[in-house]
Amino acid sequence: MMAKTAIYPGSFDPMTSGHVDLIQRAVQIFDRVIVAVLRNTHKDPLFPIEDRIAMIKAVTKNIKKVEVEAFDGLVIEFAKQKQVNVLIRGIRMISDFEYEFQMALTNRRLAPGIETVFLMPSEQYSFLSSTLIKEAAALGADVSSFVPKVVEKKLKERLGR
Ligand code: PNS
Repeated sequence: MMAKTAIYPGSFDPMTSGHVDLIQRAVQIFDRVIVAVLRNTHKDPLFPIEDRIAMIKAVTKNIKKVEVEAFDGLVIEFAKQKQVNVLIRGIRMISDFEYEFQMALTNRRLAPGIETVFLMPSEQYSFLSSTLIKEAAALGADVSSFVPKVVEKKLKERLGR
């Protein structure tokens, strides 16, 4: 049987424990998971791409099936380039659904051979968002229960705390 690879795309600015949870679920299903980090996100990232990638690599270093790469442009073009036909996205709550549904169907119209598979993180992480974590950390909150240790440290460095 051919090994099955999936791409898990996102901004990962920064990676949260919810992202880690999702990757751990994805490797139970797929033989190889490429975490694809969007280089030029319109969201004006806190962390440069190199830092976002370094954090994900550090956190996933013991998960053999995981690779981490940067990408630019359309995610479907990246998937075609990698010859991968599955995208993974996480759905935390119903509020994620509308945007994710639109994105999945747009991607499928643009690239009919590529399917999006949705996974749900553990409910203990269902409220986590990189945006809120950055805001809380910038205002001095303890975010150690929301992000891996490496990320907590990097947040402190970046925010000068
Ligand atoms: O972590 P995010 O910010 O929710 O991830 C969004 C991401 C990176 C998956 C999405 O914005 C994306 O795929 N961007 C690349 C451009 C693209 O292909 N857009 C989707 C067209 S329907």
